[in-house]
Amino acid sequence: MPKRPIGSGPATNPVDPREKLKVAYQDVRVASSYDEERDFRATDISLHYETEIIGLREALSGVRGPVLEVAIGTGRLCRRLRDVGPSDMPYVGLDVSFPMLYEARKSLGAYCDKPLPQSASVRPVHLLRADAFQMPFHDQRFHAVVGFRFIKHLSPPNRHLMYKEVNRLLVKDGLLIFDFYGWRRRARGQEEGHRLTPLALRKELEESGFRPIKIYGTRHRLPALLSVPFRALGLKAPVKALGLLEVKLLSPIDELLDRSRGGIVVAKKIGGRE
Ligand SMILES: C[S@@+](CC[C@H](N)C(=O)[O-])C[C@H]1O[C@@H](n2cnc3c(N)ncnc32)[C@H](O)[C@@H]1O
Repeated sequence: MPKRPIGSGPATNPVDPREKLKVAYQDVRVASSYDEERDFRATDISLHYETEIIGLREALSGVRGPVLEVAIGTGRLCRRLRDVGPSDMPYVGLDVSFPMLYEARKSLGAYCDKPLPQSASVRPVHLLRADAFQMPFHDQRFHAVVGFRFIKHLSPPNRHLMYKEVNRLLVKDGLLIFDFYGWRRRARGQEEGHRLTPLALRKELEESGFRPIKIYGTRHRLPALLSVPFRALGLKAPVKALGLLEVKLLSPIDELLDRSRGGIVVAKKIGGRE
């Protein structure tokens, strides 16, 4: 067999991008520094994180049934969302990486995977390790599926596979909610997912049995620099207030002109059984 220099990688059959995403987060060091490096810890102050939470809380506010978060990572969204919706309906978090799930369990605290006291006002959380492309649930089990920093990294064929799997798991009218990159990141994006415009997103979701009902811009108006003085002073409240100004439903013109620097799409499953 001909020898190839070490580190040159396979000559043919390049690694499937979904496998790369899986492998990257198996490293304990990557998992343990994930929140700290991105300002996702409870003590951190991040305008972008606050806008994501504001958009997600609004998108989930009407969801009365079980919620699934695919690729939950360290649980940074779940810990800020589990008080949204009825406290007798679970929030299930799935990830393929044990190190990420370990961080999630630590950050979610004692009630994770345990029965909650009757008086609890938050959803019970269940974590499990599985591959998001083949999830171990019966059909139509969830009322909403959240997939942040995951779906947007997938190539178009893999996104279609993911939409199909999510479609299977959602009840009719159930919601798929995920984030996407805006024009700035797209301009220098190397991954295929980076090049997704709101219009392209609409088209591919419609082809996969979803109707986008809301597309929020999450980083389109204020320069992140505005939050710097508050961050320096350790003041979270003004940053949250700036976050409220940042989350805005995109108008058809905004979508057409691709004005947002980042966004969240909320798509409803159409068709299928009740
Ligand atoms: C960039 S992190 C995002 C984590 C979290 N959603 C967030 O917003 O911070 C990507 C996550 O996707 C998970 N992941 C990658 N491929 C996966 C797959 N096939 N099935 C389930 N999880 C996967 C990784 O383990 C990692 O936790």
